[in-house]
Amino acid sequence: MPTRVARLAFDLQSIPLNSFDIHTAPTLRRVTFSPFFRKNSMSSHLVNWTPKQFAALEEEIFHAQHNLHETGLFEDENLIRLFDLHPEVDFGINTMSTSNSTFAWREGDRNGVSSETLLELLHRGHLWVNLRNVRTHHPDVRKAIDSIYDELEANNPTFQAQNRSANLLISSPGAIVYYHLDVPVNMLWHIRGRKRAWVYPPFDTRFSPQEVVEKICAAEMVEDAPFDPSFDESAQIFDVEPGQLLTWPQLTPHRVENLHDGLCISLSTEHRNPRATRRINVHLANQFLRRKLGMPCRSFDVEGVSAHAKQAVARAVRGWNKITKSKTPQKNDYQVSFKVDPKSPQGFTLLEGAEEPVAPECRVA
Ligand SMILES: [Fe+2]
Repeated sequence: MPTRVARLAFDLQSIPLNSFDIHTAPTLRRVTFSPFFRKNSMSSHLVNWTPKQFAALEEEIFHAQHNLHETGLFEDENLIRLFDLHPEVDFGINTMSTSNSTFAWREGDRNGVSSETLLELLHRGHLWVNLRNVRTHHPDVRKAIDSIYDELEANNPTFQAQNRSANLLISSPGAIVYYHLDVPVNMLWHIRGRKRAWVYPPFDTRFSPQEVVEKICAAEMVEDAPFDPSFDESAQIFDVEPGQLLTWPQLTPHRVENLHDGLCISLSTEHRNPRATRRINVHLANQFLRRKLGMPCRSFDVEGVSAHAKQAVARAVRGWNKITKSKTPQKNDYQVSFKVDPKSPQGFTLLEGAEEPVAPECRVA
């Protein structure tokens, strides 16, 4: 059984009624200009944060409140505008199995469907859209993200959010994100629907073996990691509601299942700073020193002389590879294996001859 189930505090009165009206509207209306920014002038997007929460940033698994769900930025009409404007190169469409016990993450082709139709399929089908780099492509979203990060920095003198970026995740009821870990520090700002998140002990090789973390940091494999159902006994489990942030230390393994309670929208913000970069470099140096020199290098401590020395090693190796134009291993990414299909109840059809997804266990070797 899970060690802890936390149901996060949720103020129903803070949700504007019109967000539900739009959500359930039978026909989606197309607009070319969004009128929503009236609320986006909110001076702060953090709600009732305590000094303890600011101090916990990057250090602990914790949750807090925000008001991004009240800005109007993520209502259906504005989502359609974001879909219309978002560049194809950063427009990810995926599907997956209906149970966490069967790994089947698939990459999809939009198949030319309109933004309105795609959003309708997300509402009723089994799809997961990732608008990558929303901070780069949408000034209104960028403003909200920068406001959040600026406020976090102002309230915690040791917190630095450099290389800021964010992905907007729009996913169907029941959609799953399998067990994985993210390389940058990331924070999940939940906006619509309800999802259950399992968060596993950070920096613990029982849940994230050293070789797996190193391969993910080196981009030799995608972020999905080998999972065993017994891990759940050590997880913290959160039922995340609109207006809640969930975050954890860098490289903490986690997985998510959308509850069957409407479309889910979350903003996943990511950042780096000198310590986060050093942590990645320590893993890269450990991998290099073990593979090339046979040194065990089991410590992934990010502070102290040894960590800085390993960072120097990682940088030197990177520099050498650049000079010698050495080939770095290619990430074993997912191939496109389905197309969006409005005629299908699930919103997609597998392509003829589509390969079966390869489970993370088989990607580690
Ligand atoms: Fe993640």
